[in-house]
Amino acid sequence: MPTKALWDDGRLCYGGDWNPEQWPPDVWREDVALMHAAGVNLVTVGVFAWSRLEPEPGRYTLDWLDDVLDLLHSGGIRAALATPTASPPPWFSLRHPDALPLTADGVRLHHGSRDTYCAAAPAYRDAARSIAEVLAARYAHHPALALWHVHNEYGTTCHCPHAETAFRHWLTTRYGDLDALNDAWVTSFWSQHYSDWAQVGTPRATQYLANPGQLLDFRRFWSDTLLSAYTEQRDLLRAANPAVPVTTNYVLGDWVPVDHARWAREVDLVAIDHYPSATDLGGEEQTAFAADLARGSARHGAGRPVPWLLMESAPNQIHTAGRMHTKEPGRMIRHSLAHVARGSAGVMFFQWRAPAGGAERFHSAVVSHAGPDTRVFREAADLGAALGRLAGTAPGRVQAAVAIAYDAASGWALRHPGMPRDGLDHPGEAAAVHRALWHAGVTADVVPPGAPLDGARLLVLPALYLASDATVDWVRRHVHGGGHLLVTWLSGVADEHARVRLGGYPGAYRDLLGVRVEEFHPLADDEHVPLTGGGTGRIWSETVHPAGAETVSAYAGGVPAGRPAITRNRVGDAYAWYVSTRPDDDTYRRLLTEAARLAGVAPACPGAPEGVEAVRRHDGVLYLLNHTDRPQRVPAAGFELLTGAAVDGELTVAPGGVAVVREETP
Ligand code: GAL
Repeated sequence: MPTKALWDDGRLCYGGDWNPEQWPPDVWREDVALMHAAGVNLVTVGVFAWSRLEPEPGRYTLDWLDDVLDLLHSGGIRAALATPTASPPPWFSLRHPDALPLTADGVRLHHGSRDTYCAAAPAYRDAARSIAEVLAARYAHHPALALWHVHNEYGTTCHCPHAETAFRHWLTTRYGDLDALNDAWVTSFWSQHYSDWAQVGTPRATQYLANPGQLLDFRRFWSDTLLSAYTEQRDLLRAANPAVPVTTNYVLGDWVPVDHARWAREVDLVAIDHYPSATDLGGEEQTAFAADLARGSARHGAGRPVPWLLMESAPNQIHTAGRMHTKEPGRMIRHSLAHVARGSAGVMFFQWRAPAGGAERFHSAVVSHAGPDTRVFREAADLGAALGRLAGTAPGRVQAAVAIAYDAASGWALRHPGMPRDGLDHPGEAAAVHRALWHAGVTADVVPPGAPLDGARLLVLPALYLASDATVDWVRRHVHGGGHLLVTWLSGVADEHARVRLGGYPGAYRDLLGVRVEEFHPLADDEHVPLTGGGTGRIWSETVHPAGAETVSAYAGGVPAGRPAITRNRVGDAYAWYVSTRPDDDTYRRLLTEAARLAGVAPACPGAPEGVEAVRRHDGVLYLLNHTDRPQRVPAAGFELLTGAAVDGELTVAPGGVAVVREETP
């Protein structure tokens, strides 16, 4: 573990992506002065600066970066120095056309944007290592260096001959022999049996539905390949100075072929980028979910707990649904502190200064095209001051007694063609469970299967489609150890190769749940089925046969009318719930509140009114975020850290405001 940890001085990290390569030195000096004014203490530099650092192959121009790092150091600002390997210069593409990516349709992509390389191409890997080595040799002991930020948002795939060879090699390691691969991919179907490794390729564009096992392994292969691209840079950076932590920033979502929880083992800090797409309260719900997911990977994916950091977020507008949406006053601070509440070691923005040109010229920035005399800059300075007052609270541990399982591969598999319904969405189902709990005031960890569940009294499997034997064993150990379980539709239906577990769904968990599902009845997007006891189900319904479980609510319409929709099975002193449809929001919230209550899990701050998000930490700090437009009164006692005021039994949180209470029993 590195010794020069960023957070060791108790300060929360604050800053963002800074691109001095886009500006003359007088702007750098202005920027550093403005960073001071805003309370910034950490900036990412060099993230897309490859063509400025190596304008021709093997010719390095680093003087400007020397000046930038010296300037930061003299200004007391730390650097997260990036390796620029997410954006190779044009000379690289022209020199190594074989390292340009090939799409599944056989189209070769060309430079003109970023991320246009094949990470399995030897020329790309060599060039990436070389530039990283040059940076390591020059800056590993620079006093401004606080963190190595490798690459940016790994997440590309490719089907070129290099990728195909590497995929085949990966498959031989995974399966040993072709019989095992044929078995895992069920190649007896549609005459796909492979009799020679040379026949096995990447899932290129094909005439009709592709093989699900092949699709799934292709993503796993890319996750591992991209990880090895990261670790080879990490290792040489670490070798140059083992005291400096190394990380890479994650882009969240099931479209990325990266299993972030597995990657957590290889980073010193889990770093996420987060840009909520919802503009209503959904933005706050997404923020809480992303933060809990990052914390879950950091704490439970890594084999050892590592801190996590919000590495990128928008200081103002987010581009969604075809236009920019402004974050209204106060919202940026609330979103930022929501991440800190849930354990982030600080807040970082993309980007510090808006560029005059380039593809992201209209992306929001702390220093916008209008300069620093803006509402956004003033809010950023307010946030800097607030983070300064919270020094000593990072990176705190969050109290959570519900665990929601999240599995990248299940997300990928539910997207495969030929599923019973389009639009199946494991991250979306995990987020729906999280949202219902969030509205009930209950804090959850979002964890990868296999994570230690010591503190979790209720484990939720939300459309956790794939179940390896190890995952099934993990769930069983939780339940037989007295933990409660709630399983939703499509969980445990397939094994880790996406082969259906036979004998009735949900194959892996039938006995724990005391049900057997005979048939699926997917619903249309606008279809709702009524449930007995009120509420409706959407997206999905099933013919459920109880086999020991009691019926909590039944279908009152649709194909399975009269059959159970939601059941629970007594296992020892605990309950194992099965939810065979997606309940409407109110019903889901009531159901999860009840499941949590029976598991002995209370809201984080039982007296907090609706619309106030509360997060309680093990370090005795209570975060209260008021998402309403009215002042809200919350029971609390201690000291409010942002104002320094004593809190004597009750606290009023301003409309849209945040309070942070160091709790003391009155
Ligand atoms: C991130 C990326 C940044 C910038 C940002 C825009 O995903 O890492 O470089 O493109 O999105 O929102």
